[in-house]
Amino acid sequence: MNTTRGPDHDDDDGLRLRPFAEDELTVLDRIRAEPGASGSFQWFGWTDPEAWRRQWAEDRLLGRDQGKLLVVRGAERMGLVSWRRIDINPLTHSFCWNIGIVLLPEARGRGVGARAQRMLAQYLFAHSPVTRVEADTEAENTAERRALEKAGFTQEGVLRSIVFRDGRWRDAVLYSILRHEIEDSEKES
Ligand SMILES: CC(C)(COP(=O)(O)OP(=O)(O)OC[C@H]1O[C@@H](n2cnc3c(N)ncnc32)[C@H](O)[C@@H]1OP(=O)(O)O)[C@@H](O)C(=O)NCCC(=O)NCCS
Repeated sequence: MNTTRGPDHDDDDGLRLRPFAEDELTVLDRIRAEPGASGSFQWFGWTDPEAWRRQWAEDRLLGRDQGKLLVVRGAERMGLVSWRRIDINPLTHSFCWNIGIVLLPEARGRGVGARAQRMLAQYLFAHSPVTRVEADTEAENTAERRALEKAGFTQEGVLRSIVFRDGRWRDAVLYSILRHEIEDSEKES
């Protein structure tokens, strides 16, 4: 695997992942405050508007166990990708990452979701010794399921009644991509 690939990796058309600047926290404000901006599958009601700024003050959204990067193409701020640590076995200190994504409405449907999530998986494999990156999404979120499949993730199973959103419990689907799968596909390309 080419370990120089990272959030500063510039794809052919300029799609990049990079850390937020303080004046770009407005992207997060918009996602938190407008139901349409987060997308119906990511709208869980209004939450503490200062939470992201407290996190920013603590670690610039790049903590040890979780992080967020901005998705940009040129000057266009398209949304965010995120990751959080999932402990597998405390006896062996083993863990993996669970990733997420929210693109702003105007950035959706342009093939960015698949590429940004693959770039994030490449980044996490390059900069941490995990062997597994996972993602879950509501079973009815066809766009995210398809984006994950296009990014090289494999469906593992259905998590029944795992998400409470908009008045009822819903099923989710768990996906993963393994380190060797990314490495093998990079060797082929
Ligand atoms: C889900 C999301 C990341 C997908 O990224 P995207 O860039 O919009 O998706 P893409 O353009 O890469 O399209 C992915 C695939 O889904 C399909 N698709 C896109 N929108 C769709 C929709 N509303 N319904 C069904 N399929 C859809 C596309 O046709 C494409 O499939 P194809 O290549 O076979 O034609 C993005 O739409 C988003 O941020 N949505 C709101 C937040 C969200 O739901 N995040 C995931 C939470 S787990």
